[in-house]
Amino acid sequence: MRFQHHNSGQTTAPAVDGAAYAPAAVEFRQVDKSFGPHQVIHQVDFSVARGEVVAICGPSGSGKSTLIRLINQLESISGGEIFIDGQPTSALTGKALRQLRTHIGFVFQQFNLYAHLSALDNVSLALIKVHGWPRLKAHAKALSLLERVGLGDKAPFFPAQLSGGQQQRVAIARALATDPSLILFDEPTSALDPEMIGEVLQVMQELAHSGITMIVVTHEMSFAREIADRVVFMDGGAILEQADPETFFTAPAHPRAQRFLQKVLNPLHARVEDA
Ligand SMILES: Nc1ncnc2c1ncn2[C@@H]1O[C@H](COP(=O)(O)OP(=O)(O)OP(=O)(O)O)[C@@H](O)[C@H]1O
Ligand SMILES: [Mg+2]
Repeated sequence: MRFQHHNSGQTTAPAVDGAAYAPAAVEFRQVDKSFGPHQVIHQVDFSVARGEVVAICGPSGSGKSTLIRLINQLESISGGEIFIDGQPTSALTGKALRQLRTHIGFVFQQFNLYAHLSALDNVSLALIKVHGWPRLKAHAKALSLLERVGLGDKAPFFPAQLSGGQQQRVAIARALATDPSLILFDEPTSALDPEMIGEVLQVMQELAHSGITMIVVTHEMSFAREIADRVVFMDGGAILEQADPETFFTAPAHPRAQRFLQKVLNPLHARVEDA
């Protein structure tokens, strides 16, 4: 199973208009988000380069899901601006918003597959309904995507007939169907039994090497350490630390990042200490 390097070179190639750098894939400028009176994202500045793989970690309730849901406007921002490929996005509505979303894949913790559709139909649905592809062409692409995630033989199966790891790989194939330049993952392995985590992480690793931009909220520290280009630590709705994985895991600067790492890397020890 090999992914195409369809994005490779984008980060280093000079822009054709003579600009020195391509715009960031995603850029947050002073972004706030409130739910009613509760502000849950505070003045976040955050930028992801094209082709970069960023892991976001932090305690429960720190705002990780909200942060990535803002990117494709599953939630709307309360202040600041989010730029995708250099374009401001907060004022987009209707067709322009739908267009933006087709460039952004989203993989959820709970797979969110349609139970009444086969794996093949789950993957091909958006191509047919949103992009107007003929059924046969959409099915051919969906089948090749299922093959890429190691599930070519499961195309006619319904979600209930698949393991959790297989369902999540179908969800990844579905997210890839519209050729997104960016994929957001919200804890893609945390609903899985331990023996199925590896097969999903392996698909994500291959994807990371394909050059697509990835933002991954994860508690899988091995993924963050081995695959991410950068680790972002959030707490209290703010980004407290960003570093390359080696620095983050060996010498985290912020005391809250240090405490978080102690807990996730050595939970028994942390619990005894907390007691
Ligand atoms: N739709 C909503 N309405 C009101 N408050 C919300 C909503 N969604 C999230 N929140 C609040 O925003 C804060 C951040 O939540 P978020 O889900 O982003 O955290 P998280 O870091 O993803 O946590 P977890 O690791 O448990 O998934 C929490 O206090 C949460 O209660
Ligand atoms: Mg979350």
